[in-house]
Amino acid sequence: MAGAEGEMPMDLTTRYLGLTLNSPIVAGAGPVTAKLDNIRQLEDLGAGAVVLPSLFEEQIQQEQQLIDRLATTGADSYAEALTYFPAAESYDIGPAAYLETIHRASQSVDIPIIASLNGITDQGWVQYGREMEQAGAAAIELNIYFIPTGPNVAGREVEDRYISILQAVKRAVKIPVAVKLSPYFSAMGHMAMQLVEAGADGLVLFNRFYEPDIDLAQLTLLPNLELSTPAEIRLPLLWIGVLSGQLRASLAASTGVESPDEVIKYLLAGADVVMTTSALLRHGAGYMKALHDGLTSWLAARDLTTTDSIRGRMSHRNIADKTAFARANYIRVLQGMGY
Ligand SMILES: Cc1cc2nc3c(=O)[nH]c(=O)nc-3n(C[C@H](O)[C@H](O)[C@H](O)COP(=O)(O)O)c2cc1C
Repeated sequence: MAGAEGEMPMDLTTRYLGLTLNSPIVAGAGPVTAKLDNIRQLEDLGAGAVVLPSLFEEQIQQEQQLIDRLATTGADSYAEALTYFPAAESYDIGPAAYLETIHRASQSVDIPIIASLNGITDQGWVQYGREMEQAGAAAIELNIYFIPTGPNVAGREVEDRYISILQAVKRAVKIPVAVKLSPYFSAMGHMAMQLVEAGADGLVLFNRFYEPDIDLAQLTLLPNLELSTPAEIRLPLLWIGVLSGQLRASLAASTGVESPDEVIKYLLAGADVVMTTSALLRHGAGYMKALHDGLTSWLAARDLTTTDSIRGRMSHRNIADKTAFARANYIRVLQGMGY
């Protein structure tokens, strides 16, 4: 987006997954990016790219089962089979409609459309990556949403699962693949490095797991999904800061962006792009303008004209006090607070 007259010319150009984006602010996967009108508006207001909501492994398998059932029992079972699909508005589309969305979105805008695959096995569904590529996706975000609830599942198995899913998707496509993962690994840095060695072109830090609450009056589990708050940037900020400059892959920050401040902090820590989902849900797609303008004003106030000039300035590699990201600093922080 061009700056207003009299403003300093800004160059927010950013490299992500080998793609050139006009801006480091990316509309993250979620209901807002499911709609074509929103995607167009997001582009107009300065989004660097858009990540579509995920196509889930379950949706792909359900369609496959539906096809199998129709082949064996005839069209009468169609209506019944359809009820297996999840009901939510943006997530009730099957793979064919998803591919159509990619196609229409990539034809309608110039910014990259990133498709999202979401699953936990390396079975046949990963082949959909290829179809996403053919439909016009510029890249794939692979969200591995796996919660190892069984106490017999060891950490190594979880890590191997991530790697094997990534390898299966990489075998299926030529476009870049980013892995969106959770922070729950014993050695996050090593996990990140293994994923990059297995072919990840970028990492999205982090996935935000749905965590149930308990309704004390009804004694039921509450399955609602809370939108994030800015306080939640701390964990991804730490890992972006630690991993920045250490991996031959892009880093995307996801979680807790509510204002331009969080965007700027993530860039300072070393994020190549910063994704936002909750803020767009809360305020609408038009909120992209506030994030974009806030970033450019902050840069202009410091006589800066590029995002490259601040990217990673506060990363682990670039700060003088290396302990600021590590345990040793904890004691000092506590002492400094008078405890
Ligand atoms: C309502 C809702 C739907 C979401 N759907 C997806 C999805 O389909 N695929 C995905 O990878 N992440 C999904 N996410 C996660 C977001 O992309 C994002 O990683 C997370 O919400 C943290 O970013 P935020 O703090 O900006 O919301 C969803 C989040 C919300 C709140």
